[in-house]
Amino acid sequence: MQKQPSKAQNTAPSKIQAKKTAPKKILIFASGNGSNFEAIVKHFQQKAFKAKVNIKLLTDNKNAYAIQRAKKLNIPYFYVPFENLYDFLKPRAKEYNLYVLAGYMRILPEKILKLGTVSGIQGQKKQNKFINIHPSLLPEFKGKNAIRQAFDAGAEKTGVTIHFVEKKVDSGKIIVQKSVAIGNKTLAELEKSIHEIEHKIYPEIIENLLFKKNILLFGGGAREHALAQKLSESPFLDTLYMANPNDGFKYLGKTIEFTPSGDTRADFYNLAKKARKLNINLLVVGPENPLFEGIADIFQNEGIRTIGADKKWANLEGSKSFAKNFMLKNSIKTADYRVLEGEAAVSKHSTQIKEALEYFKAEYQTPPVIKADGAALGKGVYLPERFKEAEFEIKKFLEGKFGEASKKTILEERLFGKEISLLSFWDGKTLLSFPPAQDYKRLLDGNIGKNTGGMGSIAPAKISAKEQKQLEEYQNNLKKALLKENADFKGIIYSGLILTKKGVHVLEYNMRFGDPETQVLLELLDTDLLYIFLKMSDKKLDKIDLKFNKKKAYCMVLASEGYPDSPKKGAQIKNLEAAEKYNCKIYFAGVSKINKHQKSAQEQDFSLPAKHKAADYAGDTFITNGGRVLNIVKSAFSGKIALDKIYKTALEINFDGKIYRKDIGKTYKS
Ligand code: GRF
Repeated sequence: MQKQPSKAQNTAPSKIQAKKTAPKKILIFASGNGSNFEAIVKHFQQKAFKAKVNIKLLTDNKNAYAIQRAKKLNIPYFYVPFENLYDFLKPRAKEYNLYVLAGYMRILPEKILKLGTVSGIQGQKKQNKFINIHPSLLPEFKGKNAIRQAFDAGAEKTGVTIHFVEKKVDSGKIIVQKSVAIGNKTLAELEKSIHEIEHKIYPEIIENLLFKKNILLFGGGAREHALAQKLSESPFLDTLYMANPNDGFKYLGKTIEFTPSGDTRADFYNLAKKARKLNINLLVVGPENPLFEGIADIFQNEGIRTIGADKKWANLEGSKSFAKNFMLKNSIKTADYRVLEGEAAVSKHSTQIKEALEYFKAEYQTPPVIKADGAALGKGVYLPERFKEAEFEIKKFLEGKFGEASKKTILEERLFGKEISLLSFWDGKTLLSFPPAQDYKRLLDGNIGKNTGGMGSIAPAKISAKEQKQLEEYQNNLKKALLKENADFKGIIYSGLILTKKGVHVLEYNMRFGDPETQVLLELLDTDLLYIFLKMSDKKLDKIDLKFNKKKAYCMVLASEGYPDSPKKGAQIKNLEAAEKYNCKIYFAGVSKINKHQKSAQEQDFSLPAKHKAADYAGDTFITNGGRVLNIVKSAFSGKIALDKIYKTALEINFDGKIYRKDIGKTYKS
């Protein structure tokens, strides 16, 4: 009997599929030994890929050992004296997808590099087809004998860099770096370990550059704008699809309209099917609600990998009592607590609330913090100053101040100290964290007023060496706990921490990128975000180094009058160009565009550093359409300069009812 074609096979091949099955061609340049060349060839000979990969060798040295390797491997080769290189390449420039330098001992002049530059055609980003591998952590130890240079300098570590080739030697945008500790290694041992790494990562990076990925980003706030921006800078990205971006960042990719029907799970299922048809390789989830509803489980079932916790582990955020159990079982320090639930607790004759409050009075002398058990958009927390006030508020919570989320309410011992947000990548095996960040939760200067989704953020948060050590211990404990509990998901874990006299305590977990912490943390991240996600999805986070720069990053939220309760909407946002003037980034949240001057991907020059140009908004009129309207973000080595520019931008961008905090950058203790 004939086999029924599967549904996936049944669908007519899309343009993307057709494009991907065309053979890929790479030309490897080597002058000498050619061990990298051999590793690359073997990689593509041993595995099957979506398309055939044809490799050829080019050398400027008749006696290169690489030629012997080519003969053995059955790979065609060209001997091209350097002075003939331009004439040789010119007629073939379009033929190759990638030019791979692997021990090619020449500096390529600009006119040759130009042959490898593809300007944004067919909606593609501007591309540089020349890549190189260098045996050091660039910009350290450029030029010849880089391994020896690091060794002789007595460096603690060195490593490998893969980068795009630009005019100056060993410069150009870094694609990936991997470090190696030098320790007690002899020079020969060091060379051996560097070459082993080269032979692993160079083929892998080439594979990722040949077979780029389609990503679906779910969510439409400023956090997702920042994520979309960062992802769109990745050389591994083919197309960025977005499920309901706001009007401020639609131009970064293609929009998939996601219209909720009331049956969320069915909606996610349909979205997953659509994603499969579009050959989407990975889903990245921004907000928490889809995770609570099981979007990760649904996509995984459809064969699409997801960055975002599954339904079970989303409970670390979705249910405070689940989180408390997890912490208690695993000796992770957290505030002492009591749970109150349902009508029984609020009924006339109930003494439950009184008894709970008496407990806190006896033990801690301060009224407890009141928290809705379920998720309430980061707003379901109340900090009473007096016990009477606490009693009144607890009742309101239990009666449904935050709907179902607060019908179960947690009372917590009030802790005092510095609050820190620690965001970590988790792949089921390895936990890697960002530097700590700090957000500004309260509405008003001086950390007073209502709780909001966040009015600003800074990173890295200022912490002492002792606190840094405590944070590392905390991360080890968290990792152990996750492993013990078999938390087999790939996602983000946000630990809301407080550094008390009794050590690091967990205030809460969120299972997604924090908003607005993400906006500042991405400023510090030098490792390609998409590469991190791909490694996570392979459960190989342990194989990469996260690299952070030493800048200081700040984010200021401009919100609308009335936020967080009932923000005014519909005011025109004026003078967005101020952001460009002060070299700040803008991430949009609650905005809509009234004259749709849609910029297509073709119009974007992705080769430029990520910054917002006035031209991005030319002809656009944005109006406010939510509480948090936009973020102004800036990072610099001087925090003072960065903040100064943010405040100037905040002053000049205008809309009716604009509100913002004037103390972003200050550190507070609670
Ligand atoms: C490698 O160390 C590479 O990083 C550098 O040159 C060396 C080439 O080695 N650019 P091989 O010719 O591939 O063995």
